[in-house]
Amino acid sequence: MPSPSTQTIRTEVTSCTHDNLQSNASESMASLQAKTVLITGCSRGIGLELVKQFVRLPSPPAHIFASCRSPDTAHELQQISKDNPSVHVLKIDVEDKTTIENAAVQVEQILTGSGLNLLINNAGIAIKELKIDDVTEEAMLSVYRVNTIGPLLITKRFLPLIRKAAQTYGKDEYSASRAAIMNMSSKVGSIDDNRSARYYSYRCSKIALHMVSKNLSIELEADKVMVVNLHPGWVQTDMGGPNANTSTEDCVNGLMNVMATRTKEHNALFYDFKGMLIPW
Ligand SMILES: NC(=O)c1ccc[n+]([C@@H]2O[C@H](COP(=O)([O-])OP(=O)(O)OC[C@H]3O[C@@H](n4cnc5c(N)ncnc54)[C@H](OP(=O)(O)O)[C@@H]3O)[C@@H](O)[C@H]2O)c1
Repeated sequence: MPSPSTQTIRTEVTSCTHDNLQSNASESMASLQAKTVLITGCSRGIGLELVKQFVRLPSPPAHIFASCRSPDTAHELQQISKDNPSVHVLKIDVEDKTTIENAAVQVEQILTGSGLNLLINNAGIAIKELKIDDVTEEAMLSVYRVNTIGPLLITKRFLPLIRKAAQTYGKDEYSASRAAIMNMSSKVGSIDDNRSARYYSYRCSKIALHMVSKNLSIELEADKVMVVNLHPGWVQTDMGGPNANTSTEDCVNGLMNVMATRTKEHNALFYDFKGMLIPW
């Protein structure tokens, strides 16, 4: 069987509900001010491009924790880290609790008492089942482990640092610059948007991720930690394939703007990379 992570998934192209709170001209000038950010799945695709664009922000974070499964073979990421001392390459396999724990200890040592403003759970895999006959228990479980349980366990481990950031940076502001968790989902995880079936494991894993986000958003109300689900579009990565209609640069440029402009009204909801609200 081919590597699940190299399977191409086409996001259905349908209209989304226009969000009244979509970025306007002045908001589009907004920029993320997070001082510390951790991203999973930075070896390639959207994760790698997120690191590139964080480095180029007008006020880049002091620490960008760029995690990946195999740091030794993540050559482009390692080069970015060499050129930018703020980029720390960490080993995290979201299925492996030991790597999560080791990375968290490294982050704590580097932050020396400071908190983590922004966690982006980006790592993901997809398996392309065309019909129910293609579904296997193993595939359902492996996709669920990476796309749902991984983000949940990473959030659990890094939550004390996120809470610390929430206490340190202001009291009332819901923002990605203060204390937030962004879960990279997909519009194929929308029941409302599902018109073509297929992709059992991937769809189920992402909709379960939405429930993780919703639960967290309620549990973290007291700390005013924002939790948002993001859809990056249909993107030219190994997962999206070469025919996708959005480049990684445009996708991440949009995501950076969307993250920068999310606030209390957007908490626990689901937005695409243009700021459009996606129905569940
Ligand atoms: N591309 C699209 O059209 C599209 C559309 C909707 C949503 N998304 C979502 O966007 C996110 C990024 O996708 P992408 O297009 O950038 O995919 P991609 O090019 O296939 O990259 C996936 C990334 O996830 C990492 N990863 C996979 N399994 C992992 C694990 N167990 N632990 C840690 N990292 C792991 C991969 O690392 P390795 O290099 O080690 O495999 C790689 O860095 C995913 O959550 C995906 O579901 C993508």
